[in-house]
Amino acid sequence: MRYGHFDDERREYVIDRPDTPLPWINYLGTEDYFGIVSNTAGGYSFYRDARLRRLTRYRYNNAPFDLGGRYLYVRDDATGDYWSPSWQPTRGSLDEYECRHGLSYTRIASARNGIRAETLYFVPVGETLEVWRARVTNERDTAAELSLFSSVEFCLWDAQDDATNFQRNFSTGQVEVADGVIYHKTEYRERRDHFAYFACSEPLAGFDTQRDTFLGAYRGWDEPAAVERGAAFDSVAHGWAPIGSHHVRLALAPGETREVIFVLGYAENPRAEKFDPPGSETLNKRHVRPVIEHWLRPETVAAGFAALGEYWDRLLGCLRVTTPDADTDRMVNVWNAYQCVVTFNMSRSTSFYESGIGRGMGFRDSNQDLLGFVHMTPGRARQRILDIAATQMSTGGAYHQYQPLTKRGNNDIGDGFNDDPLWLVLGVSAYLKETGDETILDQPVPFDNAPGSEEPLYEHLRRSLQYTQDRLGPHGLPLIGRADWNDCLNLNCFSDTPGEPFQITENVSGGTAESVFIAGQFVLAAKELAAIAELRGLDGEAAEYRAAAEKMTGVIIEHGWDGAWFRRAYDFHGRPIGSSEDDEGQIFIEPQGICVLGGVGLDDGLAAQALRSVAERLATPHGIVLQQPAYSSYRIELGEISSYPPGYKENAGIFCHTNPWIMIAEAMVGNGDRAFDYYRRLNPSVREAISELHRCEPYVYAQMIAGRDAPTHGEAKNSWLTGTAAWNFVAITQWILGLRPELTGLRVDPVLPASWPGFQATRVFRGATYEITVRKPAGAAGRVAYLLVDGERVDGTTVPAAAAGTVVRVEAVIEG
Ligand code: GLC
Ligand code: GLC
Repeated sequence: MRYGHFDDERREYVIDRPDTPLPWINYLGTEDYFGIVSNTAGGYSFYRDARLRRLTRYRYNNAPFDLGGRYLYVRDDATGDYWSPSWQPTRGSLDEYECRHGLSYTRIASARNGIRAETLYFVPVGETLEVWRARVTNERDTAAELSLFSSVEFCLWDAQDDATNFQRNFSTGQVEVADGVIYHKTEYRERRDHFAYFACSEPLAGFDTQRDTFLGAYRGWDEPAAVERGAAFDSVAHGWAPIGSHHVRLALAPGETREVIFVLGYAENPRAEKFDPPGSETLNKRHVRPVIEHWLRPETVAAGFAALGEYWDRLLGCLRVTTPDADTDRMVNVWNAYQCVVTFNMSRSTSFYESGIGRGMGFRDSNQDLLGFVHMTPGRARQRILDIAATQMSTGGAYHQYQPLTKRGNNDIGDGFNDDPLWLVLGVSAYLKETGDETILDQPVPFDNAPGSEEPLYEHLRRSLQYTQDRLGPHGLPLIGRADWNDCLNLNCFSDTPGEPFQITENVSGGTAESVFIAGQFVLAAKELAAIAELRGLDGEAAEYRAAAEKMTGVIIEHGWDGAWFRRAYDFHGRPIGSSEDDEGQIFIEPQGICVLGGVGLDDGLAAQALRSVAERLATPHGIVLQQPAYSSYRIELGEISSYPPGYKENAGIFCHTNPWIMIAEAMVGNGDRAFDYYRRLNPSVREAISELHRCEPYVYAQMIAGRDAPTHGEAKNSWLTGTAAWNFVAITQWILGLRPELTGLRVDPVLPASWPGFQATRVFRGATYEITVRKPAGAAGRVAYLLVDGERVDGTTVPAAAAGTVVRVEAVIEG
């Protein structure tokens, strides 16, 4: 069952009814000012850091699920009837409803009793504000006397404190109302230099800034007293819960439309100019007034919205494909790329499942998010790499997370996730392949942000590999530390105390638990660094890295191979995990993926065997589960993984992030049908048809789909912020479609489903545009025989990088 449809032309997902199985959200903002917005206008906004600079308040895990948002109320002043044009929070009946989630904007339109209201929400590029453009139309044949009320609830900035520290916060709230603009200035009188404002393009009939006056005692957002009586109270908040609400009266002739613009924004004042007049307690509005006036004009809003569209044209224009599969096209061309950008911006901080207060930017996560983003904005990827690398420690180890506002490593979680440093090598390698910008390797970057400790980025990469080599266990495999990619495989934890954090507890010392995953990842990273070393003329060093990769490959084959698949790890006691020797958790997906990505087993049949085992034991119609059989009970020696009920999350859920590794591995062994089949099992657009089961948004990937051991097999959770986005993008574009940046040029080496006759693509690579046509006899499985580059035959599959600004025509011929 569907709750909407894709409008491919307009790059929108159109939701036809407000009661989707879960709130289906979208993101506003592209640079510094961001927000989430659901299909019923729920959500919140923040400046840069969702925890520390939260503009508006939102209560997670509410009932109804999604409450707190950018709400308008329309009131028919002749009858007193009122409703929310976004359905929530009043949830009154609507004659029509449509939500269009587009690229960084959302438009919600509805009608009731002949009054239509359509609101466009977006953040203009380069601004720290959001626009709500409401258009109210009288579709009746009589005049209508209407009231329009806006509402936001301000957050007192630090969202964590805001949600807990009531003994203070009920007394600190402050606002000012001047010239129809509501200013939220809690804590501005002391150490904050920033404030929020909420403005309206129309003259006001009234306003409210105190929540409980606006709502009335014992009332919720579904029946505000001000709206019910048709008049604001002009309340001024002193403490309690500051809100912003404008009341506008609209007299509309039959057929008339009125546009009302609301602007919610964030602004800072220079410390010396906080107050006007100086010495007073009055907010200095001189700098922000012109911004407000500018954005309240319809022509500014129209131009700002058009510029947002152009921003996305430019990003998405970097890669466009036309394949025989519509689900592939819309994900690659629009939604998957969009999700990659959002994930890059948000890391794991803000979604419907990530509260914005819990987690900083992940070292491992951010390096992987890059993979799906670097081709669109290499400059931002470069900065991200340098930020991440600056949190690395001189040992080569890494803080697991860092805070976006301070860019400092986060001590709450600390280090010791032994896969982390290797992701930096893979992130930098992806950047170099995409851009060819070797200067990044010479860029001085500090360790742990300590001034004076700067070394070239290349030295950071060396230490990343060294970190693994310095930490090998009894079998010669890398020590796992607190966890590897699988945060929940905590082999040194041994926790029997409720609430003890699995990742940062080590109740045993001298842990010798080892990870086959890190071993495979090391092989991959060492080969990548060898190629980078060669690029720098360091042939001796390159040879060392290749030798190290080969040696580790030998260790994997000797101690990491279980007979028909790669093992997962060795526990504290030296027992294998992911082995037929155990009765549960016999086979895990991660090492089958990463070892093959590193090239292990490609020349001796082990890779193909491992992939057969995945197909036989782990694949389900909804995707490939993380391991089998699921752990039926808590195993203290494994940590968090077995804390989940069977079929969920790391305990045999379909942890979607890992599936593309198998798609890539299948492509590497030449199995295009299987790779593409796995791709379609997860593709959200394919799963749209089963939305009542899948439940999450059909336009983005989710982190997890319940596995076959779960009673809710096929149900997705944790949509949007997941490495699934970047890795699926890499799997489909670089391996199945085979458009793969390499240090030496753009490789065109597709591994397609047999039935395809080929496909076409436009790829911008290092400033040149490649118009690519792949031809293949339908029904044949085969690899590229030769390329025609601007009509000239080229052997092999690599197109050398062309001069920026040029257009290169590439024909790839698969003979079958
Ligand atoms: C989450 C984390 C990621 C981790 C994965 C598996 O997605 O963000 O870092 O690799 O879970 O545990
Ligand atoms: C990852 C996992 C999740 C776990 C968390 C712990 O995000 O996906 O299952 O609870 O790490 O930090």
